[in-house]
Amino acid sequence: MPSLPLDTTFAVTGSTGRLGGRVARRLAAAGVAQTLLARDPGRAPRLPGAVAVPGSYGDREAVVRALRGVDRLLMVSAAETADRVDTHRVFVDAAVEAGVGHLVYISFYGAAPDATFTLARDHWHTEQHIRAAGVPFTFLRDNLYADFMPGLVGDDGVIRGPAGEGRAAAVVAQDDIADASTAVLTGAPDHAGATYDLTGPEALTLGEIADVLTGTTGRTVRYQPESVAEAYRTRASYGAPDWQLDAWVSTYTAIAAGELAGVTDCVPRLTGRPATPLADVVR
Ligand SMILES: NC(=O)c1ccc[n+]([C@@H]2O[C@H](COP(=O)([O-])OP(=O)(O)OC[C@H]3O[C@@H](n4cnc5c(N)ncnc54)[C@H](OP(=O)(O)O)[C@@H]3O)[C@@H](O)[C@H]2O)c1
Repeated sequence: MPSLPLDTTFAVTGSTGRLGGRVARRLAAAGVAQTLLARDPGRAPRLPGAVAVPGSYGDREAVVRALRGVDRLLMVSAAETADRVDTHRVFVDAAVEAGVGHLVYISFYGAAPDATFTLARDHWHTEQHIRAAGVPFTFLRDNLYADFMPGLVGDDGVIRGPAGEGRAAAVVAQDDIADASTAVLTGAPDHAGATYDLTGPEALTLGEIADVLTGTTGRTVRYQPESVAEAYRTRASYGAPDWQLDAWVSTYTAIAAGELAGVTDCVPRLTGRPATPLADVVR
C-alpha cells in the first residue's frame, strides 16, 4: 500500500462549522498537521498540529497567503448567499495561485446546471470552475444531511413540503462524510479526478423519515405533502429573498422528482464500513 510523503501539507476550511470541524478533528486524531482557514481564527477548534489563519473565501489575498504550499485542501462549500458561486470562484482561483496541489470540494448530490434543487446548480457551476482551473480535484457530492432531518419538523410535529409521495432521499450522516473526506484527503494514491456521490444506506420518503423520527425521539412526527404554491405561501412569512425561498422549496421538489433517490456504495468504499442509517444518526 503506497503512503503519502511525510511532508504532505493539509488545509481545511469550515472548521468552525459542523462538517469542516469533524474533518479537522479526524486529521488531528490521525496525527496530521493542518492549516485551518477561518473567517475568525479565534473560533477555530484548538487541535494538536493545527494552525488557524484568517481568510474569507472572497478575500483573494488572504486565501493566497494562507494556502501557500498546501498539498491537499478541503473546501467546504460556503454559507448560502446570492453570490455564493462568485465567492467560490475567487476562492478557487486563489487556491490555484497559492499552488494548492489537490482540492477536495464538498459538492451536492446530482449537481447539474438544470438540477431541480437550485443550490445543486451552484455546486455544478463551482465544479466547472474547479475543472477549468486545472487543479487536481475530487468532488464529494453529498446527499441531504441526515443530521438536519429533525430540523424539518415544525413545532406541531409535522414535516410539510412539496415532496410528493413515494419518492425518496438518500440522506447521509455528516460523520460519514467526514470519514470519507478524511480518507480522500489522506489517500495514497490520491483520488484526483474522481467524483463520489455520498449517500446513506437507504432511500427514504419523507413519510418514512417522519416514522424514523417518531421511533427514535418518542415524539410523534408525520409528513404532510404541500403543493408548490402552498410551500411558497407558508414560507413567505420568513421574509427571505427569492433565491432562498427557491432553494428551500426546491429541496422538496427535488425529492419529488426522484433526483435525491439513488443509494451509492461510495461511503462504504471510501471508509471501509457501512453508511450510517438515519435512526442511528438521530439517536
Ligand atoms: N447537504 C446538505 O443537506 C446541506 C445542508 C446545509 C448546508 N450544506 C452545505 O454544506 C456546508 C457545510 O455544512 P455545515 O453543516 O458544516 O455548515 P456550518 O456548520 O454552517 O459550517 C459552515 C462553515 O463554512 C464556513 N464558511 C461559510 N462561508 C464562508 C466564507 N464565505 N468564507 C470562509 N468560510 C466560510 C463557516 O465559517 P463561519 O464560522 O465564519 O461562518 C463554517 O465554518 C454548508 O456551508 C453548506 O454549503 C449542505
